[in-house]
Amino acid sequence: MRVLVTGGAGFIGSHYVRLLAAQGDEAVVLDKLTYAGNRENIADVSHTFHQGDIADPVAVAKAAEGCDAIVNFAAESHVDRSIMGPAEFILTDVLGTQVLLDYARHHNLRYVQVSTDEVYGDIPLEAAPSTEDAPIRASSPYSASKAGGDLQVLAYVRTFGVNASITRGANTYGPQQYPEKLLPLFITNAFDGLELPVYGDGRQRREWLHAEDHCAGIDLVLRKGGAGEIYNVSGQERENMDVIRGILDHTGASPDLLRHVADRPGHDRRYAIDSTKLRSLGWAPRHTLDGGGLADTVAWYRDNRAWWEPIKSGEYRAYYEAQYGNRLGS
Ligand code: NAD
Ligand code: TYD
Repeated sequence: MRVLVTGGAGFIGSHYVRLLAAQGDEAVVLDKLTYAGNRENIADVSHTFHQGDIADPVAVAKAAEGCDAIVNFAAESHVDRSIMGPAEFILTDVLGTQVLLDYARHHNLRYVQVSTDEVYGDIPLEAAPSTEDAPIRASSPYSASKAGGDLQVLAYVRTFGVNASITRGANTYGPQQYPEKLLPLFITNAFDGLELPVYGDGRQRREWLHAEDHCAGIDLVLRKGGAGEIYNVSGQERENMDVIRGILDHTGASPDLLRHVADRPGHDRRYAIDSTKLRSLGWAPRHTLDGGGLADTVAWYRDNRAWWEPIKSGEYRAYYEAQYGNRLGS
């Protein structure tokens, strides 16, 4: 199969390009190369590359020509950045999705939208994990933009008969994740002896899903998912402080680096999803955070300083100062 992988130079998309190549499928990557995109992530994997914006119909038509399917990973993906500046999130996550859907509609392509469990919003501690029919209750500009993309997909299925499915994955971790999200930020800061900024009490809960397991779920949905169907891709639920203690253990960093800082506005306490539907298609995760997933990820960052050190000295510094300067009093 020839698959257009949008956002294929980013974290999860690059793992998916790797999966396609290992299966003997053909990957065509369309990526704008924002701060989060890095061609190095797929330098050793067979693919065709197009630099461009998914919200640009000309760039999409050029890249998608001859493809059988589109899997849309391209997004602005970080909650804290969406709080600083929501506009870019609407352009890529909503408008970009609609442009891709238009192409799929007019050229009869299979389409998979890579979405997130964050669209279900804050799940009370005592509540059961969300199934796919749970209402959308997005909290952040990021999750609202992803929810907007999802609604476009469902509208294109119903109105135009596009053969599209949606996956809603949990918090994803693994090698090559840009060091702004919890795991890679704390792991790399721990290696550098820098402060670890815990938002609020750190008792928020997330499900942690390895990038390879996430991509296996997405690929299964591409091949076996139904039109208009949504599939949750779940992980292992853990309290943030448990994960952070694991990072201290595996990096050998001192707990003295921990700082409880001002909380994220609108911060969801808990995400929890039920992936029975995806499991019934044959999906089963192969990694768990405490069964080696976290240790292996820490080891990757230990062994690949050359990947993340240049990132942390570039645009990242301005972002870090804006996000953490006041919080850490630096
Ligand atoms: P990422 O930020 O690491 O990568 C995003 C990629 O998209 C980058 O390569 C970037 O250059 C590219 N991109 C951004 N805007 C673009 C545009 N307008 N046109 C073309 N390319 C563009 O993101 P990620 O963590 O790999 O997430 C990938 C997808 O998975 C996103 O849709 C995200 O919402 C979803 N998701 C992520 C997680 C997670 O924990 N990271 C969990 C569930 C779902
Ligand atoms: P993050 O990796 O940003 O993913 P999301 O907000 O999309 O779930 O954050 C995961 C959790 O870690 C979330 O509860 C916020 C928390 N967090 C911190 O405590 N400090 C930080 O510096 C970051 C980036 C996240």
